[in-house]
Amino acid sequence: MTATTTHALDAAVEAARWAPSVHNTQPWSFAVSPEEISLRADTDRKLRVSDEGGRELLISCGAALFTMRTALRRAGFEPVVRILPDPDKPALLATVRAGAPIEPDKRTRLLSAEIERRRTHRAGFVGLPVPDRLIDALVKDAAGEGAKLTPVRSPQAVEVLAALTRAAQGVQSADRRFSLEVIRWARPPGSSRQDGVPAEGYPREPVRTDPRFAQRDYAWRHDWGGKGDQSTQTSAGVVALLTTSGDSRRDWIAAGEALQRVLLHASAYGVSAAFHTQVLELGHLREFLRQELCSGEFPQMIMRLGITFEDTNSVRRPMSDLTE
Ligand SMILES: Cc1cc2nc3c(=O)[nH]c(=O)nc-3n(C[C@H](O)[C@H](O)[C@H](O)COP(=O)(O)O)c2cc1C
Repeated sequence: MTATTTHALDAAVEAARWAPSVHNTQPWSFAVSPEEISLRADTDRKLRVSDEGGRELLISCGAALFTMRTALRRAGFEPVVRILPDPDKPALLATVRAGAPIEPDKRTRLLSAEIERRRTHRAGFVGLPVPDRLIDALVKDAAGEGAKLTPVRSPQAVEVLAALTRAAQGVQSADRRFSLEVIRWARPPGSSRQDGVPAEGYPREPVRTDPRFAQRDYAWRHDWGGKGDQSTQTSAGVVALLTTSGDSRRDWIAAGEALQRVLLHASAYGVSAAFHTQVLELGHLREFLRQELCSGEFPQMIMRLGITFEDTNSVRRPMSDLTE
């Protein structure tokens, strides 16, 4: 292995830190040897109440995996990936090696430029349309990773989805266990911690889209949140469902890879995503959604895609916290 390979593997881990993760838990760790990166699930960071089975944890790690693949390609190496390589080590989610040297293509350069720039949005969007051609390309991206992205075009179905998010948020807000878990991952203003959802990452005012998609209650009785003017951001954007045909750990990792591919591609064209995954954390509502709106496929992510001119911040743990 050359110094260049080692440098490329380090750069891939550095990039993976910027993947999205549920509540910014960053539930991953990396072991970098001269030959390969081992991506491990950090189960201490699992959401024990809302994600008992680890589905969202694995989606988050899948997003980190796609980021590593992209960064490695950008550094000039074809990634060689093994998913869940050792049945005796369930926390070992993947190994990534630097394979044959390649010239990074245009798509790789486009996506890798978005890795640090992409941010989760948590309000309405401005009324500008998301081009259909981009949505078609994102659908192909998800399919390329073994998942399915379906834009929800019927206003009735969008209304049902929005109502489901409000119902799920209502259930979670009324349940102390769920509330305490969200509070644990809410990062107070001015905090020095490098994980959790920063108070600058969501609006202080309730989101005003029609229909209204329920936002997570990160501020919980505090006067937290950005003070940005939301009066021009009332579009819900394009609502889309990310689904998989199975619901195994492998499917969850694939859903995460698909998610990050879609998000980076959208970001390259100025399109941001907002997520509303409360519904998927309540088994009976997830099952209802699977049967009624997902043609029997397993819903892994509910998102809205749209355009915003707002900048939000996020935080990440340093490399020294993530590497073994
Ligand atoms: C599996 C998963 C579920 C998520 N669910 C939500 C959600 O319900 N609401 C929300 O506002 N953000 C959600 N997010 C986004 C994270 O909060 C976000 O990725 C994290 O705070 C890091 O911020 P960034 O994406 O801006 O870098 C989710 C992300 C993942 C990967």
